This record gives sequence, structure tokens and C-alpha cells, in this order.
Amino acid sequence: MNMEGFSFGALSDGTEVHALRLTNAAGASITVLDYGATLQSLRVPDRDGRLVDVVLGYDCAADYERYDMYLGATIGRVGNRIANAAFSLNGVEHRLAANDGANHLHGGLRGFDKRLWEMRAEGDSIVCSRLSPDGEEGYPGDLRVCVRFFLTRDNALRIVYDAEGDRDTPVNLTNHSYFNLNGGGTVLEHRLQVFAERFCEGDAGCLPTGRLLPVEGTPFDFRAEKRIGEDIGAEHVQLLRAGGYDHNYCLSGKHAAVLRSEETGIRMRVETDLPGMQVYSGNFLKRHPGKGGREIERRGALCLETQLYPNAFNCWGFPSPVLRAGQRLHSETVYAFSTF
Ligand code: GAL
Repeated sequence: MNMEGFSFGALSDGTEVHALRLTNAAGASITVLDYGATLQSLRVPDRDGRLVDVVLGYDCAADYERYDMYLGATIGRVGNRIANAAFSLNGVEHRLAANDGANHLHGGLRGFDKRLWEMRAEGDSIVCSRLSPDGEEGYPGDLRVCVRFFLTRDNALRIVYDAEGDRDTPVNLTNHSYFNLNGGGTVLEHRLQVFAERFCEGDAGCLPTGRLLPVEGTPFDFRAEKRIGEDIGAEHVQLLRAGGYDHNYCLSGKHAAVLRSEETGIRMRVETDLPGMQVYSGNFLKRHPGKGGREIERRGALCLETQLYPNAFNCWGFPSPVLRAGQRLHSETVYAFSTF
């Protein structure tokens, strides 16, 4: 394993952003930024041994600050949407920042993705931590958060989340990497398998309504591997509302998904201890320049965001996102790469 650190440019207020890159003996590497605890690059070998960067990103800190696409960022305090940017907890109503119409999205106007973290190298991992102060974006209590990015010898990225607060607060952490196993083009030809029987119905604003719909007989059925583009254009109200896939899948177990590309022969397996996963086909991605001058385009990547079910405060029966004061949150998600 080899670790190197370098400057990643400056934010608009002059603050310097740092990068750490961890490379394994196979040549695979991860690059993490202290801005947003962001996975800036993830390079894995294809079937011919050539390294492919399989996540979208930018070349400089200023672009991460400028664009609001959450590329590779750590999302918090609560990922995805909370209706009307409010929740009540222990009889108290908390108002959150509304940054998606009237709703709260991915932690607010300045979520964890737009904050500077403390970052250090620790063995075979890159560790990012920060204290989210009481009242940040409307959330109650101080919350200590730590995200560890491990790269294994056999090309798996393991992300480990730990958090603890001094007051009861909702927490739902995820990583917002956009995967493209070809390193360019759209993902419509990628093959996807998702181990879920049901998904959350979304309303017009992509908020779960509380109803769980069976995937069976719908374009949402990925229980058997299917091309992402196969049914994405189907006349299904859930696809039309979201402009494609943008839904929480209710995972059947720890094996969440397999994504594969015939073009490069790269296969990615996703495993998690969380109950849900947002399958998002990059429908809101606008054309703009990304890393190495490569254009980022609509549906140019797929996000597989492991999470608690979104909008849980408003949906009866969804697992609670509340982390009690002094309780420890611990969660792990693995993205394991191989070739075929
Ligand atoms: C996803 C979310 C999408 C969109 C995107 C960011 O996690 O499901 O609806 O908000 O993030 O552009």
C-alpha cells in the first residue's frame, strides 16, 4: 500500500483543500478530499489490466464548491429528502434548511458535502472526521462523525461510518459516488442487479409516500440482471415522475447490488448493513465539464446510495433515523471490484 498527499487547490475564500491517495499493490487507488470527505477518484483494473476511473468527479476544489451534484461526497446529517424541511422529535418541532423547493435534501444548504473535514492517513485507510455543531442546518445537538475509507488488496473499497451525538438527532449517512464502469459515456448499457423485492413509491417531488411497491411486473424489477436502459423509458408513473430511476429499494439482505459492464469487464458488488439503497440514474445531471476535461452528461453514471429509507418521519413503519444521545452509530458499505 502506498499513501500520498497533495494539494487540491483552494476554495473561494482561499482555504486550501487536501487530497490523499491510497494505492494498493494491484495499482488500484482511491483519492479522498478533505472537502466533503469526497471520493474524488476510484481507479480499478479492467479485464486487460488497464486502470479505469469508475467515479465522476472534478479536477479542482473550486468545481466541487461551484456545482451542486454531490459527486462522491459524504452526505449528512440526513441523506435524501425530508418533506417540508421539518420534523418533530421528543415533542419539539425542528425546522431544517429548505434547499429542494419546500423540502430538505442531503443535509441542507451546506450539508456535510460542503464542509471541510479533518483528514488523516491511518494504515490502509483514509480517515475523515468532523464535529457537526448543534443547530447546523437546523439539526439538534453536536454530532461527531467519522468516515473511514479502506482499500483492500483485492480491490474493494470499504466505507465505515461512525457517529455519536450529545442529543437525540436524526442521522442518515451515505456516500454519493456516481459510478460509470467504462470511465465515460452513459450507463444505459451497464447491467444492474438489485436484491430487493420492493421499493418506495415516490411523489412528484421524489419523496417517499410511505407505500412500498412490489418490483415484480414493473420496470423496477432488477432481481435478475438487466440493462439499466432496458425499461428506463417505459410509461410507468414512477419513472415519469422522477425522470428515470431515483428510488429507495428495500434491500432483502446485506447483498445489495451488482453492477457490470461488458465493455470493460468490470464488475462491482455492493454490500451493506443498511436496509435501503437509492438507485439514482443521474437524471438531474446537467452537461458540464468533469475530470480530465471529460463531459459529465445526463445518465452518465449510476448512484447506489446505501441508506435508511428517506422521509422516515413522515412514513409510518419506516426504520427510525433517530440516533439517541450518547448512542453510537456504526455502519459499513463495501464496493468490491473484480473482472469477468
Ligand atoms: C440523489 C437524489 C436525487 C437528486 C440527486 C442530487 O441522491 O435521489 O433526487 O437529488 O441526489 O442531484
